[in-house]
Amino acid sequence: MPANIIDGKAIAAEIREQVKQAVIKRTEHGMAAPGLAVILVGESPASQVYVRKKREACAEAGVLSKAFDLPDNTSESDLLNLIKQLNDDNEIDGILVQLPLPEHIDSTTVLEAIHPDKDVDGFHPYNIGRLAQRMPSLRPCTPHGVIHMLDSIGEKYKGRHAVIVGASNIVGRPMGLELLLAGATVTTCHRFTDDLAAHVARADILVVAVGKPGIVKGEWVKPGATVIDVGINRTAEGKLTGDVDFEAAAEKAAFITPVPGGVGPMTVAMLLRNTLQAADNHNSNS
Ligand code: GUN
Repeated sequence: MPANIIDGKAIAAEIREQVKQAVIKRTEHGMAAPGLAVILVGESPASQVYVRKKREACAEAGVLSKAFDLPDNTSESDLLNLIKQLNDDNEIDGILVQLPLPEHIDSTTVLEAIHPDKDVDGFHPYNIGRLAQRMPSLRPCTPHGVIHMLDSIGEKYKGRHAVIVGASNIVGRPMGLELLLAGATVTTCHRFTDDLAAHVARADILVVAVGKPGIVKGEWVKPGATVIDVGINRTAEGKLTGDVDFEAAAEKAAFITPVPGGVGPMTVAMLLRNTLQAADNHNSNS
């Protein structure tokens, strides 16, 4: 039986609508619309597409987005100065720096400069630490979005084996923390893992976030598994494709996410939610 498709676009649309309604309520109560600063350094076409989608989603939900498009040769200290200004700006509730940054800028220094209360990507060590210690505050958007998708199909987590392929700071590592928090037994595979196929074959929940098309073969997938494909890759013909061999995996899985239309839209929706959360926290603390 071919797998059920998890429609990330539809789930994301619901979350975006909830944020929109909450923003309307805020403004009806005389509060400002949440404000998000979106910083893009350089001209990577992929980053430009992601940032445009984030800004469009803000506009649709009534979130004020302020664009900072900086040239590729921006110095690290200029970027840090901008972040300092935005940390002190009362109209800004969230700060997002699109990654990757140009090589001459140290992304760790930049991400640590964002005030944890405005860290709507959830990448600051403070927010990652809170998630690791079971007290999540602002949570990384993509892993949190994946949890929403799993919740939407009634995933129970406890007694289930989750296997993550990829150990990046943006997805793989926080994904492990989210799944552990939810009660799953978690294995994280990475470039030094031996026999990836054997690990994948034991996954009740499989999350793949590597950025290499076809790294997970469909025949490895455990019958009845849930397969979440975080990869977004462009083929030589210009088509978008994930990391998992979709057609073959869909023959074995019970649930699978498509690319495009799976995890991608969830990342944007969770960013809006985090921005609303940051604004609500900001108002209740001031
Ligand atoms: N680059 C790829 N994914 C992300 C993300 O979720 N946030 C940011 N800021 N940059 C990214």
